[in-house]
Amino acid sequence: MPAYLDHNATTRADARVVEAMLPFLSGPYANPSSQHRYGRAARDAVETARAQVAALAGADPGQAIFTSGGTEANNLAVKGIAARHPRERLLYSAVEHPCVLEPMKALAAHGHAVEAVAVDGQGRVDLAAFEAQLARGRVALVSCMIANNETGVIQDLARIAALAHAAGAVVHADAVQAAGKIPLSFPESGAQLMSLSSHKIYGPKGVGALVADRALDLEPLLHGGGQERGLRGGTENVAGIVGFGAAAELARLELEARTAHVLRLRERLEAALRRIPGIRVFGAGAPRLPNTVQFAVPPVHSATLLGLLDKKGYAVSSGSACASGTDEPSHVLLAMGVAEDIALCAIRVSLGKDNTEAEADGFAGCLRELLASLGAAMPSVALNA
Ligand SMILES: Cc1ncc(COP(=O)(O)O)c(C=O)c1O
Repeated sequence: MPAYLDHNATTRADARVVEAMLPFLSGPYANPSSQHRYGRAARDAVETARAQVAALAGADPGQAIFTSGGTEANNLAVKGIAARHPRERLLYSAVEHPCVLEPMKALAAHGHAVEAVAVDGQGRVDLAAFEAQLARGRVALVSCMIANNETGVIQDLARIAALAHAAGAVVHADAVQAAGKIPLSFPESGAQLMSLSSHKIYGPKGVGALVADRALDLEPLLHGGGQERGLRGGTENVAGIVGFGAAAELARLELEARTAHVLRLRERLEAALRRIPGIRVFGAGAPRLPNTVQFAVPPVHSATLLGLLDKKGYAVSSGSACASGTDEPSHVLLAMGVAEDIALCAIRVSLGKDNTEAEADGFAGCLRELLASLGAAMPSVALNA
């Protein structure tokens, strides 16, 4: 039974989202900055979406800046603060998405002081190490994701933000994976910057937002016609923004039902997985997103298993979509102290609102069969079969 189980990579746009977008692809086409009635109609649609996106994050509409996605939102947060504080340090958790890690590397190449903060074996920020780093002073920014895209592990952001604020640092939270899966509250999170992405919440690709405290001084990435409070020049992607707004509204209204559904499937799936001898589930001792489970059945390499699962119609991944396709072990798992040969066996299943019990059971059954056919040792699998 084929099943798409890769929702942390991306989601299918909800039919209601597509319906909301369609008129803006084929009908009203005015520029939202135009002063005539057609421009005002486009502006109204953008502002409605802004309120919907802000509401998902528990933020004020005036705090949301539309971007081309989570990657741009993270780049704007990190580089936007770094440009204003060239001589201060920038800290980030070692398990951040590449779209935080790479800007940090680029900044380091331009002379900025950047430092990774270690995580423990469950993938949570090592608070003692973090405090020691803060104590060395002059920290402009702490960038820490709310939930990890590979393991689903959720950080104690409130505690991290409290420590960062006491040291005078601004906090950026990448909420791309958390949004639509767990409740978000921008004011209570302690973050002054929060990144969101539409395509992870059943919206269109290529649109996202940075929620930003209005008192923050940020350097834009794109200078242009003054759109988005001067923080992101360029004519707005109206249809995309409308779709993002509709997706955010649905994610907020359906959050509880979606969470309960994917959690039930995840628990069922994980119970089945745990019967596989030698399996390791990563981050299982920490709070995790309700839809995610990352595991390994060493010595079976992810590349082998992903290929076989794909042939059977199961779409899963080894971890982040960006890192898959390479033979590099996940930086997230390595940061958690997982040995390289085990990290190379990682498989991530990320469930979505439309997955069914039959799909979860089908995946677990298929995995067991494949492992048995590989003779993945496991005499007990053979005995049980
Ligand atoms: C945690 C996290 N941050 C940021 C991004 C990037 O978002 P986008 O694909 O919208 O650029 C992703 C996407 O995989 C992600 O998982």
